[in-house]
Amino acid sequence: MRERSERTNGHSSTDGIRVAALDDIPEGEGIAIDKAITGTADDIALLRDTDGSVWALDDTCTHEDASLADGWVEDGYVECPLHSSKFCLKNGEVQGLPATRSTCPHRVEVRDGEVYLFPGQAP
Ligand code: FES
Repeated sequence: MRERSERTNGHSSTDGIRVAALDDIPEGEGIAIDKAITGTADDIALLRDTDGSVWALDDTCTHEDASLADGWVEDGYVECPLHSSKFCLKNGEVQGLPATRSTCPHRVEVRDGEVYLFPGQAP
């Protein structure tokens, strides 16, 4: 049986980067994954919707610099904690002012209670 490298060292592979346990993310909330782990320009927010699904967006709000991981997640959207802009979890499109630019979504998979991130890949 092939051993997955991300289980032991957290680095990228074709199986994604293991970034959290599912239980680390309460429903309706998010956590930020440091860009040093993801290799991306921005930290990535892992966001767990109220239906239990997990999504990933660039963490910094496109309005100013709030962390979307600190926002509220509900019914397919995350609401920024600073000025309440809303972003679609599936595609990062902005759904509520004052932000006017979409944010970048990333692919996420949950396997055996572990969350794997594919930075830069579309969901
Ligand atoms: S910083 Fe997010 S809406 Fe202003």
